[in-house]
Formats: sequence, structure tokens, C-alpha cells
Amino acid sequence: MKHYKLGFIGFGNVGRTVARLLLAKSAELRELYEIEWSITGVATRGMGWLSRPEGFQASSLLSNSVDKSLGLVRSTSINEWLLAAQPDVVFETTSLNHETGQPALDYLTAVLKSGSHAVTANKGAVVYGYEELSKLAADTGKHFFFESTVLDSAPVFSLFRETLPAVKLRAFSGVFNSTSNVIIETMEAGRSFDEGVKMAQELGITETDPAHDVDGWDATVKVCALAHVLMKLPLKPSDVRREGIRNLSTLRLQAARAEGKPYKLVARAKLSENGSSLNASVKPEQLASTDPLGNVRGTSLAVHFELDTMPGLTITSHRPNLQSTAYGLLADFINAVRE
Ligand SMILES: NC(=O)c1ccc[n+]([C@@H]2O[C@H](COP(=O)([O-])OP(=O)(O)OC[C@H]3O[C@@H](n4cnc5c(N)ncnc54)[C@H](OP(=O)(O)O)[C@@H]3O)[C@@H](O)[C@H]2O)c1
Repeated sequence: MKHYKLGFIGFGNVGRTVARLLLAKSAELRELYEIEWSITGVATRGMGWLSRPEGFQASSLLSNSVDKSLGLVRSTSINEWLLAAQPDVVFETTSLNHETGQPALDYLTAVLKSGSHAVTANKGAVVYGYEELSKLAADTGKHFFFESTVLDSAPVFSLFRETLPAVKLRAFSGVFNSTSNVIIETMEAGRSFDEGVKMAQELGITETDPAHDVDGWDATVKVCALAHVLMKLPLKPSDVRREGIRNLSTLRLQAARAEGKPYKLVARAKLSENGSSLNASVKPEQLASTDPLGNVRGTSLAVHFELDTMPGLTITSHRPNLQSTAYGLLADFINAVRE
């Protein structure tokens, strides 16, 4: 049996669901993987940098009833916190910053430099730091994993990493943003844009600022993350032609649905003829049901890959929820410590 100390930077929808899933899967982790764990550090903007070397009670963290007296250490910086919490693995789930990837980038750098594995759901860090963080992980003999950043927990990065050697990705398209899908379908049913946003927020699937979803930033950053990691092309969000869903009226959405070609927020990227650049866009498109992405409904997400050795490979995650996202982080944790 090996005991792992875990740290959480960010403890909102995703971070809390990871903690709940760890509790729910404790017996399986112990029996199948010989993994025991305790949470020794938690950090958020509101809570600050907290650690307890002998471990927090996960249930009291989840109910916001941490005993403030007993062995609680308050640090003033991430490096102090890492020293106090001594985590083997850190889950980084802070809010997306699509312009710089910060502060997640600095946090993950500090985590890897301290000798911990780094697992993140934050795609900004992948877009702005994939090469540096991967190199740092390799230099320290640790892992930098980020499966939940695109398509929640559906295997995309690990699929290419583990099972598709010597393949060349030529193009991909995807429905990457559940919130936009939920808003579009709410409006098709005759309700307002704001009601759609509210519904997505209640599901816990929006970005901290839902404007990042409806203006296409979330999907754009996912395009860049895929391009970086799978095509080795350092695409930046400003390189992607981006149009969100704000200009779609209820009337237009209902007409498209009646025509059998409803709107979705579709992301596309295609290699140029000489393979040196990418033509990438995120915009609302009408999709027929025969399109590989045509039957993606509700919170479901999908990506369609065009490869040199396979004309089409589609991965669909049907109705993923917060637990699906959390599972991606849990799987990254297990894969990091057993490799
Ligand atoms: N929700 C999803 O379905 C989903 C799916 C895939 C990926 N993701 C990604 O996962 C990440 C977290 O999403 P979420 O839904 O959990 O967001 P959330 O509920 O808004 O939680 C964000 C957490 O990060 C903390 N935080 C924000 N800025 C911070 C900073 N500068 N320093 C320390 N802590 C900070 C917040 O603390 P305070 O509350 O104290 O401000 C909060 O605990 C995002 O990057 C998102 O893109 C989310």
C-alpha cells in the first residue's frame, strides 16, 4: 500500500467533485491500485493557502467546516504551502484565464519544481505552458497530465499518448462547449438566452464567468490545446477566428431546428497543404444529422479527428457531468502514480 498526500489549488465545482469521487472510490483505489490518500493542502482565493500535514477530513472540507485550531497552517505563498503540505500530487482547478493562462501556469510550475505530480483541468495552462511544463515534468521525473481540459473525462490526450503511435493528425472538428449547447436548446424550446445560462450554471458546467462560454473562448482555448499537444503547433487564441452564440435569435434557432439542421457552436482546425500552419475557427454552424457531430445533444461533447491512417475517428462523451470531469482528474492521478 502506498500513501499519497494530495493538494488542491482551486476548490470549486471541479475540485470539490474530485474530493467527493476520491471518497466514493477509496475502497477501489485501495483494493485495485494499493493507493491510500489524504488531503494535506487546499488553496483558493477565499480560503488562502491552507495545509494540515496530518491530513484534513475530506468531509469537513466539503461541508466548509474545517477545524481552524488543530494543526492548521496558513501560508502566504504557493512555495510556503508546498513546503508545509508536502503533496505528492496536486490537483489544479482554478478558473480559466484565456489570455495568459495565469496564475495556473505559475502554480503548476511551482508544483512540478517542488517534485509533485501536477494534474489540471485548466486548459489555459496547456495552451500557454504545455512545452515548458512537460519539459519540467520530464526533468523532475514527474507527470503533467490534463485529460479533463478537453471533452471532460473522455480519453483524448491519453488516447493519442498511449494508443496511437506514428499517426499524423490532419484536421479536427468538435462540439466542445456544453454551456452553448444547453443555451441553444433552451432557446429552441422558446425560452430566453438568460434562462439557458442559468440552467447551465445550475448544472455547474459554465466557466466561472459564463461569457467565456457564450463568446466562444472556452472552445477556442480547447482548439489551441489540441493543436499544441496533438499537432505540435503553438496556436494562440488570437489565431482562431472566433464568433460566439450571442447573435443567434430564438427565431433563427427554431427555424434551423425545424429544417433538421440545428445550430451548434462548432470548432474546426485544419492543417495547411505544407503542414506548417493551421486554419482554425469557432463559430455557430448548422449541422445535418449525417455530420459526425450532428447528433450531439444537451451537455454532450464530441470531437472528430481526420488522421493520415484513419479517415475519421469520432469520440463522443454522452451527457458528461461534473463527475465525468472529476473522473478525468482521478484517472490522471492514478496514471501518474502507477507509471
Ligand atoms: N465545470 C466544468 O464542467 C469544467 C469542465 C472541464 C474543465 N473545467 C475547468 O476547471 C477549472 C475549474 O472549474 P470550476 O467549474 O471548478 O470553477 P469554479 O467553481 O469557479 O472554481 C474555481 C476555483 O478556483 C479558485 N480560484 C480562482 N482563481 C484562483 C486563484 N487566483 N488562486 C487560487 N484559487 C483560485 C476559486 O476560489 P474562490 O472561489 O475562493 O474564488 C475556486 O475555488 C477551470 O479552469 C475550468 O475551465 C471545468
